Amino acid sequence: MKYSDAQLREFGLTRERIPRHVAIIMDGNGRWATARGQMRSAGHRAGVNALRDIIRFSSDAGVEALTVYAFSTENKKRPPEEIGVLCALLIEYFKKEIDELDENRVRIRSIGELNWFPENVQAAVRNAEIRTAKNEGLKLNIALNYGSQAEIIRAMQLASMAAAREGRVPTQADFEANLYTAGLPEVDLLIRTSGEERISNFLLYQLAYAELYFTDLYWPDFTKEEYLKALRDFAGRARRFGGLTAKDRA
Ligand code: IPE
Ligand code: IPE
Ligand code: MG
Repeated sequence: MKYSDAQLREFGLTRERIPRHVAIIMDGNGRWATARGQMRSAGHRAGVNALRDIIRFSSDAGVEALTVYAFSTENKKRPPEEIGVLCALLIEYFKKEIDELDENRVRIRSIGELNWFPENVQAAVRNAEIRTAKNEGLKLNIALNYGSQAEIIRAMQLASMAAAREGRVPTQADFEANLYTAGLPEVDLLIRTSGEERISNFLLYQLAYAELYFTDLYWPDFTKEEYLKALRDFAGRARRFGGLTAKDRA
């Protein structure tokens, strides 16, 4: 955390209204590139640059957890060349960014079935996780070969096996303890770029009471200023969680 309360106010934010957990569907890299007459790979590269600023601001503003969707289970349907580009970018990303992330005390974790990726990708991700495991700053979760339905089935299976060993049925707590996001707060704010208004198999369970924020901008155009807009919008929402706010009661 870097910004004081006064600095946050200059951004139009207040400390109490900073979401604890932000999730982002970073969509539109391909269309961003195509619109410029460039290869889709150029869009993915530009997407990495956009992510850097969003991580930095999240960390500086005191967001506790940031979960970003980088590759879905369904993205395996993409042409092998595009998957290859994404793998190469991942390796490059960790090589280039790890020092700054570590200096800023960011704790990196991947969520999803990492074993599907080539060895060198797995190694890059695991090294980043190990190197930053003790950091106490922003909890950065990168969803890689992640699908929420697969996550839910996996958690259900692990929870029922563990409970069966103790001769009981699994509880909600058992289930949640086996999600990839165990121990993290519920998602407060979900952002999706590129104009699509769908969840695409991301954090279905964890989004139960998340505020949803959609923007038509493609991910590479999602700057810190745009992030601020989303955070200010979030700060102005009345979250009821099924109950009533003081204003509703009046
Ligand atoms: C998001 O951008 C990144 C990944 C899914 C890996 P897309 O690649 O989906 O870009 P569009 O949606 O085709 O523009
Ligand atoms: C969601 O984007 C996955 C990521 C951003 C990694 P997609 O581009 O895969 O989603 P759909 O296919 O448009 O729903
Ligand atoms: Mg897309």
